[in-house]
Amino acid sequence: MQTVTLHDKSFDIFISEQIIQESIAAVAQQINADYHGKNPLFIGILNGSFLFVADLFRLIEGQAEISFLKMSSYEGTSSTGKINELIGLNQDISGRHVIIVEDIVDTGMTLEKIIHDLQQKGPASLAVATLLFKPAAYQKTIPVNYVGIKVANDFLVGYGLDYDGLGRNLKAIYKLKS
Ligand code: IMP
Ligand code: MG
Repeated sequence: MQTVTLHDKSFDIFISEQIIQESIAAVAQQINADYHGKNPLFIGILNGSFLFVADLFRLIEGQAEISFLKMSSYEGTSSTGKINELIGLNQDISGRHVIIVEDIVDTGMTLEKIIHDLQQKGPASLAVATLLFKPAAYQKTIPVNYVGIKVANDFLVGYGLDYDGLGRNLKAIYKLKS
């Protein structure tokens, strides 16, 4: 599919399934090298990261664990600035090597809140892995350690990313038509 329509908007194909999978393999390779023997705890940020975390986690070698947090800061196609913690973490992360997994880091507001909350819980280390990163939109100083693909400041859907609930099941990533 070259173009998809979701609600009132059209989107053009932007990142193919193959490029997505290749970038995930590259991220997994870096994490495997950095966390060898450390039994990292991956924390997927729902809903958007569920496909990325599923594909990434299958490529992680050795002992590793996974848990999920649910937060949301988006309504429509622009960040609202409101961040709601909907599902808290019920796992002890103290002394653990934690890797937060995001679908996309945009302004970084969501990430800052998550990092702030998780840091209180005494992890041994805290890193961030994201499939997509918008450097031009990023307003924070927290390092984004593992980035699949850097993208411009466009609104994207597919492979977990949604436009008001739709588009998450698209296998490729699509860009809002300008
Ligand atoms: P931030 O707090 O501005 O960094 O936004 C992070 C969250 O906003 C992501 O986890 C996504 O759920 C959502 N988001 C940011 N950019 C996009 C986009 O281009 N398409 C769909 N959702 C997005
Ligand atoms: Mg999200």
